[in-house]
Amino acid sequence: MKLLVTGGAGFIGSAVVRQAIGQGHEVVNLDALTYAACLDNVADVADAPGYVFVHGDIRDAALLETVFTEHAPDAVMHLAAESHVDRSIDGPGAFIDTNVVGTYTLLQAVRGYWERQGTPEAFRFHHISTDEVFGSLGATGQFTEDTPYDPRSPYSASKAASDHLVRAWWHTYGLPVVLSNCSNNYGPYHFPEKLVPVVILNALHGQPIPVYGAGENVRDWLFVEDHADALLTVVTKGQVGRSYNIGGENEARNIDLVRMICALMDEMVPEGAPHARLITFVTDRPGHDLRYAIDPARMRGELGWRPSVTLEEGLRRTVRWYLDHPDWWQALQGRAGVGQRLGVGA
Ligand SMILES: NC(=O)c1ccc[n+]([C@@H]2O[C@H](COP(=O)([O-])OP(=O)(O)OC[C@H]3O[C@@H](n4cnc5c(N)ncnc54)[C@H](O)[C@@H]3O)[C@@H](O)[C@H]2O)c1
Repeated sequence: MKLLVTGGAGFIGSAVVRQAIGQGHEVVNLDALTYAACLDNVADVADAPGYVFVHGDIRDAALLETVFTEHAPDAVMHLAAESHVDRSIDGPGAFIDTNVVGTYTLLQAVRGYWERQGTPEAFRFHHISTDEVFGSLGATGQFTEDTPYDPRSPYSASKAASDHLVRAWWHTYGLPVVLSNCSNNYGPYHFPEKLVPVVILNALHGQPIPVYGAGENVRDWLFVEDHADALLTVVTKGQVGRSYNIGGENEARNIDLVRMICALMDEMVPEGAPHARLITFVTDRPGHDLRYAIDPARMRGELGWRPSVTLEEGLRRTVRWYLDHPDWWQALQGRAGVGQRLGVGA
């Protein structure tokens, strides 16, 4: 299958690209190379036959038309987005531009291409979204695919808007779409402004480890390689017009996650132990959703997919990877905003 992956130089997109090439697919990786991108993430496949990188923006309709005409993909996996909630609090405009207007521009280009091809039924537009569109849960319950949308941050609102556009292009124009809404990812190549790498790198450097509020917020953590595997399952086997919730079946409070990482650091870097002494509670994120949890029944029942990695094992692999790859994260630490507290609000 020839896949056009948008955002394939980012964290999750690059895992998809690496796995897709490994499975024998051809990949066209379209990425604007924003602050969050790193071409080193796909260095392992850069010379693989069937891999092409295109430096381009999903808001550039003329470029998209050229890319579709030239490469004629069988499916699009759309991951390009502004993805950091804290940045969306400080600067929501970029999130509307890329996540909403960009998705609209891409949908129009895909629709034009699909119609020129004679509307093939086998074509797929796979929109990759987040469980954050469903809002916040209390102490119990899980998000299903039928949970009403209730986004609370500029980021999740922009993703919700893009999900609605994708469904509208299916109902109105018949474009064969599938959607997936996923819980928090972690793993190798995670940009060093997100929680898990911040904890690892601050622990390594003996710096305070910031935990928002009281650390009570619960997330359902999914190892990125498992997510990439799930996405390739959805794009190849998912039912048209349907959405799939993808979770890790690994719920943890932020404070417990941070303590798990500190314990792994104690084991792997004993000279800094105990790293938990560095935990520092800081002002909470405005509008911080309390709990997300995914009901994985549809992925399991319809597509026979479930995560393969426990949180303990995934964190162990992740910590090891960061300790073994200082060149990767050192090169990113000078980028704008990295290492600073963002999204504190007015
Ligand atoms: N990280 C998570 O935990 C998580 C969870 C669920 C869903 N998602 C979704 O998965 C997708 C990928 O997330 P990620 O964490 O890998 O994000 P990321 O920020 O690491 O990567 C985003 C990529 O998109 C590219 N990009 C941004 N704007 C672009 C544009 N206008 N045109 C072309 N490329 C552009 C960037 O250069 C970058 O390479 C996003 O759609 C996100 O909403 C993420």
